[in-house]
Amino acid sequence: MDFELKSLSPTQAAPWAVDALLVLVPDAVPKKTEAGALPQLVAEAVQRGDLESGAGKQLLCYRPAGFKAARVLLVRVGDGSAASVRKAVAAGVSALKQPGVKKLGLLLSLFDADSHAVRSAVQACADATYVYTATKPSAKARSLQQVVVGVAQAPAVRDGFDAGRALVTGVEFAKEWANRPANHATPSMLAEAARKLGRQPRMKTEVLGPKHVEALGMGSFMAVAKGSAEPLRFIVMHYSGGAKDAAPVVLVGKGITFDTGGISIKPAAEMDEMKFDMGGAASVLGTFAALAELQPAINVVGLIPSCENMPDGMAVKPGDVVTSMSGQTIEILNTDAEGRLILCDALTYAARFKPHSVIDIATLTGACVIALGGVRSGLFSTRDDLAQALQQAGEAALDPCWRMPLDDEYAEGLKSNFADMGNVAGRAGGAITAAKFLQKFTAELPWAHLDIAGTAWKGGAAKGSTGRPVPLLLQYLLDQVASGKAGGATPRAKTRKAAKA
Ligand code: BES
Ligand code: MN
Ligand code: ZN
Repeated sequence: MDFELKSLSPTQAAPWAVDALLVLVPDAVPKKTEAGALPQLVAEAVQRGDLESGAGKQLLCYRPAGFKAARVLLVRVGDGSAASVRKAVAAGVSALKQPGVKKLGLLLSLFDADSHAVRSAVQACADATYVYTATKPSAKARSLQQVVVGVAQAPAVRDGFDAGRALVTGVEFAKEWANRPANHATPSMLAEAARKLGRQPRMKTEVLGPKHVEALGMGSFMAVAKGSAEPLRFIVMHYSGGAKDAAPVVLVGKGITFDTGGISIKPAAEMDEMKFDMGGAASVLGTFAALAELQPAINVVGLIPSCENMPDGMAVKPGDVVTSMSGQTIEILNTDAEGRLILCDALTYAARFKPHSVIDIATLTGACVIALGGVRSGLFSTRDDLAQALQQAGEAALDPCWRMPLDDEYAEGLKSNFADMGNVAGRAGGAITAAKFLQKFTAELPWAHLDIAGTAWKGGAAKGSTGRPVPLLLQYLLDQVASGKAGGATPRAKTRKAAKA
């Protein structure tokens, strides 16, 4: 889908040559309106009570006098915040999903749309029209081809527009890979997708196979992969947009392309949804796709341990003890707690980049779904500043998370008589004990963990990937650029010198 940004006043909207015109109307409509077909139409619709207030309320006008567009849809946008823009655009674009609507004019100049509002509008357009086709060629492809966003002053909101466009690329990349069934998204296929991304400017991808991973000593990761005929892949991506010596942000994504549970096998009901167990990996790939497009001044490393979790004669068994790359031994009491087993080795590997921060993203626990549902991702961090930055990014990007505790008492249940730790504790506080397990591998790193088990995909009739938390991650990275904290305009060395001076 093609997006374009343009300065356009309400008076200029009527002669606009588009298939449909979607007009966002704020709560506060000026009583005395300007001349021109659109301001008149809006004023009359509001005065006569045909366009109620409340974000999402709409009035469709067919071939209204004075307009070039055949369909003019007025949608209420409430206070004009990013959240209400998302709601209004989602409702409006869904109503205009018709084969005849290929070019859409989206008018935001009736209210004071800021950068966040514009980004949110672009995102909502894409969200409402996304169609999965990879293994369903009969699905009706997206008919909307072109969206022109009209605002009062284009230069003032260009940032938000560009971020929105890159976000659409990233979110759709993540959705696409997460939605693919496991036989169309094996670890090798994910690695291939990452390699392809690596051909873009400032990007580089390395893919390590079983031999290399063994040489690194990733015994925990290897144990999970043992039961599968599909070879594991460890994907290492670099986006180098910042100064050479600037510490990178490292993103680590859980890439279990299918989770049967292994020998501790899962029940059959809804097991198909375990194809989404690489949602963390998909979000890392999606974030890199967005970075490639936006080219911000920051360094980012993406790490994706990827394999299947299968039962087999060769599979790891409950009670088996493995040695992780950190040297710590792990008693695998439940082979279904495999996410933490592949992430722990990737977290150990992350330390070599002397990172500004390390964030792992994982569909880690059913317990997190029970705790937070599908609204907020679980956020765990040993650093208050990092937690706060991620929380704020989530709010700004409308991709929220909620901080959970990491008291040491929660780690009690991980004690083992046969290894440095077990891989599971009891049922209580399962999302937290999983995070406590990961924490044992983050030593002094500024680390955060996002449990996206509830937010990465939807079940039921709307079954499909959400592309979350790509919006949160991209927002966090852009915030770091803006504040000059990571890999941005101020490289580490310079900052140190400046501090001395
Ligand atoms: N991938 C699952 C977590 C999951 C389950 C996400 C359901 C979304 C919906 C993970 O690998 C898993 O199986 N976790 C176990 C951990 C348990 C064995 C301690 C779980 O949550 O049941
Ligand atoms: Mn599992
Ligand atoms: Zn899993």
